[in-house]
Amino acid sequence: FLGFVVQSPSGPLVVPLGGSVVLPCSVDTLLPVEGLEVEWKRDSGTLVHLFQDGESRPESQHQDYYDRAHFFTEEIQHGNFSLLLNNVRAEDKGEYRCKVYSDQDSDENVVEIKYVERLIVSGSNHSISPYEGEDVTLSCSVDSHIPPEEIEEVSWKKIDKDGEILVLLFQYNEIRTESTPDQYKDRAEFFADEIPKANFSLRLKSVRNADKGVYMCLVFAGDFSANTTMEVKISK
Ligand SMILES: *[C@@H]1O[C@H](CO)[C@@H](O)[C@H](O)[C@H]1NC(C)=O
Ligand SMILES: *[C@@H]1O[C@H](CO)[C@@H](O)[C@H](O)[C@H]1NC(C)=O
Ligand SMILES: *[C@@H]1O[C@H](CO)[C@@H](O)[C@H](O)[C@H]1NC(C)=O
Repeated sequence: FLGFVVQSPSGPLVVPLGGSVVLPCSVDTLLPVEGLEVEWKRDSGTLVHLFQDGESRPESQHQDYYDRAHFFTEEIQHGNFSLLLNNVRAEDKGEYRCKVYSDQDSDENVVEIKYVERLIVSGSNHSISPYEGEDVTLSCSVDSHIPPEEIEEVSWKKIDKDGEILVLLFQYNEIRTESTPDQYKDRAEFFADEIPKANFSLRLKSVRNADKGVYMCLVFAGDFSANTTMEVKISK
């Protein structure tokens, strides 16, 4: 008897619009390909993909997934029936059921695409602790499937108990240094060469004790906005 268990995925997925995602599905036991059937379905019942009689069956895929959802052909013999979904759309949000049948047994798991994000802004560390006088880089990059020309505004703000200070501004394809207040003049800058790559990291030179606080990189593109924050603590 070839009993098996479909491994549970680690949790819901967050995917950038237009990006790719692997929907995991694998079994704990190697199964003979003869008699094996793997069916990926949406919660609505839509057939996302099918593996049957030793091959994937793109002709049975729903048109919404045709050419976008693929098995990893080489992986199937290893009991890995994960699906690669490309060019993710907003409508792809929801649950996907991977059902595996062998001659003797069947099992399934459910994978959820929880959010399809329009705009993803990522930073790096949550906090850094430079010494006074050091130069630091605060990371901020916008997911690359957004064309840089669609990014209307990127602002770096410092937030502390006294409120918000605009540190650096990029607006309509220009770095607007005239908006930088005196305490950051000539100390805060973008990496101009990196902006076409949607990298809006901030270089802050010669940090001072007064620079400590939370820094937010806030991005607007179309109707969307997203941000990342980082705390700067000054080491003594
Ligand atoms: C299945 O294959 C995909 C693609 O190679 C890989 O990303 C994933 O980690 C594999 N899963 C397992 C459980 O090996
Ligand atoms: C952005 O540019 C800075 C400065 O060149 C670099 O340190 C950082 O790694 C870049 N970030 C990404 C995501 O490429
Ligand atoms: C920054 O992002 C967080 C989490 O996505 C959100 O809750 C918050 O409202 C955003 N802040 C601003 C000023 O947009």
